Amino acid sequence: MTAPAIPGYRYGDPSLPPAALDAAAFAELRAACLLGEDDLAALREAAPIIEPQVDAILDTWYGFVGSHPFLLASFSTPAGPNEAYLAAVRGRFGQWIRDTLRGEFDERWLRYQREIGRRHAAGKNETDGISGAPAVVPFRHVVALIVPITETMRPFLAKGARDADQLERMHRAWFKAVVLSVALWAEQYTREGWW
Ligand code: HEM
Repeated sequence: MTAPAIPGYRYGDPSLPPAALDAAAFAELRAACLLGEDDLAALREAAPIIEPQVDAILDTWYGFVGSHPFLLASFSTPAGPNEAYLAAVRGRFGQWIRDTLRGEFDERWLRYQREIGRRHAAGKNETDGISGAPAVVPFRHVVALIVPITETMRPFLAKGARDADQLERMHRAWFKAVVLSVALWAEQYTREGWW
C-alpha cells in the first residue's frame, strides 16, 4: 500500500537543486553537532514511539504558534490566519517528523533540507499558492523555535521510552537533528559566501 501523496511534499524529487554541501563538508557539520551513528540509532528507536503521536505533537506545536501572534503572523494575511495554509503545511510538517526520525541524512535528505530552508525564505508561500502572507519567516524565529520543538518532544518520547537512559539518548538525538536541519536551512538566509 502506498501512502497518500502530501500536496507540495518533494522529498526525493530528482528535479530539486543539488545538495549545498559535499559529503566532507556535511560530515564536518554533523561532527560540529556531535551527531554520531549512536544518535542515528536513537532517532530510529524514537520513530515507532512517535509515529502514533504525530498528530498530538502537531497539535502542541500548532498550539504554540497559534498562541504567539508574532509567530502566527507568518501564516496570516491581512484577513487573519490562513487556515488552508496552516493545514497544508501541517501535512508536510508531520512528514518532516517522520523523515527526521528515519535518520537517513543522505543526498536526498540534504536536497530536501535545502528546499525546506528556501520555503521559509525566498520561496515562502509558493508551494501552497498563498498571497498576502509575509514574504519570509524571520530567521531569528526559526532559530528560537529549536527550543520549543526540542522541549515539547520529551514527554512524547517518554511515553514509549523503556528507561531514563533511552529517553535521554532519543531526546538528545532529536535536539541534534533539529539543530543540524536549521544549520542547513540557514544557507537561505545568509549572505553569499558567509554560510
Ligand atoms: C526549528 C524551527 C522550525 C522547524 C523545525 C520548522 C519546520 C517546518 C517544516 C517541516 C515545514 C514544511 C516544509 C515542507 O514544505 O515540506 C515548515 C514550513 C513552514 N514553516 Fe517552519 N519550522 C521552523 C520554524 C518556523 C517558524 C519560527 C515559523 C514562524 C511561524 C515557521 C513558519 C513556517 C511557514 C509559514 C511554513 C510554510 C512555508 C511555505 O510557504 O512553504 N517555521 N516548517
